[in-house]
Amino acid sequence: MKRVVLLGYGTVGTGVMELVERNGEYLRDRYQQEFDVSGILVRDLDKHRKKDGNHVLTASFEDILAQEPDIAIEVMGGVQPAYAYVKTLLERGVSVVTANKDLMAEHGFELLQTARLHNAVLYFEASVGSGIPVIKPFSQSLKGNRIQSITGIVNGTTNFILSKMYDEKLGYRDSLKLAQEAGFAESDPSSDVKGYDAARKLAILSSIAFEKAISWQHMGCEGVENIEPRDMDNARDIHCKIKLFAIALRRGEHVHCSVRPVLVDRNSFLGQIDGENNAIEIVGDAVGKVMFTGAGAGSLPTASAVYGDLLDVLSGHVGDICALNDDLDYELIPYYNAQAQWLVRVDAGDIQGLMDTILHHFNGHSLELHRLDSKEQVFFVVETEDERELLRKLAPLQANPYVQGLRHFLIYR
Ligand SMILES: NC(=O)c1ccc[n+]([C@@H]2O[C@H](COP(=O)([O-])OP(=O)(O)OC[C@H]3O[C@@H](n4cnc5c(N)ncnc54)[C@H](OP(=O)(O)O)[C@@H]3O)[C@@H](O)[C@H]2O)c1
Repeated sequence: MKRVVLLGYGTVGTGVMELVERNGEYLRDRYQQEFDVSGILVRDLDKHRKKDGNHVLTASFEDILAQEPDIAIEVMGGVQPAYAYVKTLLERGVSVVTANKDLMAEHGFELLQTARLHNAVLYFEASVGSGIPVIKPFSQSLKGNRIQSITGIVNGTTNFILSKMYDEKLGYRDSLKLAQEAGFAESDPSSDVKGYDAARKLAILSSIAFEKAISWQHMGCEGVENIEPRDMDNARDIHCKIKLFAIALRRGEHVHCSVRPVLVDRNSFLGQIDGENNAIEIVGDAVGKVMFTGAGAGSLPTASAVYGDLLDVLSGHVGDICALNDDLDYELIPYYNAQAQWLVRVDAGDIQGLMDTILHHFNGHSLELHRLDSKEQVFFVVETEDERELLRKLAPLQANPYVQGLRHFLIYR
């Protein structure tokens, strides 16, 4: 009988215990693995007195260690003390399953190395996309590919907000309030709306894809706070929606990683991922495009991934999730490094006075001008080699005395 401990008994921890109750017997029979949840770590014991498993509750990590567990499930969240606890457990040879993207984005590689050194494993399927299987398909089934790109809607909160802004023509503040009332956004939503949560998930995925530790702090990261209703109108005019994308793109030895609002064809696969759902599109050189989608959060969806990892560890079906290759030397570049269309919005006191400049600088770039009826803004769609070329062409516009604001969005087709 293996001893399993649970660090955290909140939304996900409760889902894990519910799944143990619901499917445990069947899975135990099928996998011939007996386990017992021998300790549950929480902060506030009183909060959990009436729950299942209350006889093994503790607020002391020392008690957890004293159980001499075989496997620990870390669903506490945050970087500390989760990092210290997971590191201590791995150093003792205890395998760990975690749903914690903050922990994996900050210390994932170090912890994976610690695990390897001590003959333990560290699995983290639930850390990106909750119950959507993406880490293991990525690192195992798609191993035969060189990954060319990852494009994902990986934050349910911002997807919910953007869907409300698009479908119900609400402003950003009202949509955020609805997300908070529906329980999809926290009272401090900064990490979601500023794009940091998506960047951390992209750091995990791109590090696996490109076999190199990629830090989320080194990525371009723009959230949804500055999206205006008129951006939604402009998107609508060209049959697109706006989504917050996490993008990783490899071209030769150059890798671009960013989180940014992107216009996407409303009838495309990613254009139809609405509300709190998540989706991840991966392009491999052999497999082509593959897509993963489903609920990006929630007690049972997340528990589904955690339990899957637990069963893999229990039954010894473990493989290296992440192979690091120190010989690889990618350059992380800040601009989107592929041919693309862009929507550029220009705010100006005198739009007509700007027309010649726009036409001159984008001559030969399949320029489409829109909203010429408006006195304050014009937007145009233009195609360039990459984002660097776009920025070069926009520089004189930026310097033009008529221009009061200028913003560009990638259009993903
Ligand atoms: N919720 C989701 O849908 C979802 C989806 C994917 C991934 N995740 C990830 O899963 C993890 C858990 O999320 P959650 O939503 O379940 O969080 P949660 O509801 O806030 O639960 C956290 C649990 O950890 C315990 N805890 C926190 N800090 C502790 C400490 N210092 N010492 C002891 N216990 C501590 C809390 O104890 P008390 O109850 O006593 O306060 C609580 O039981 C996070 O990393 C999150 O990013 C969550």
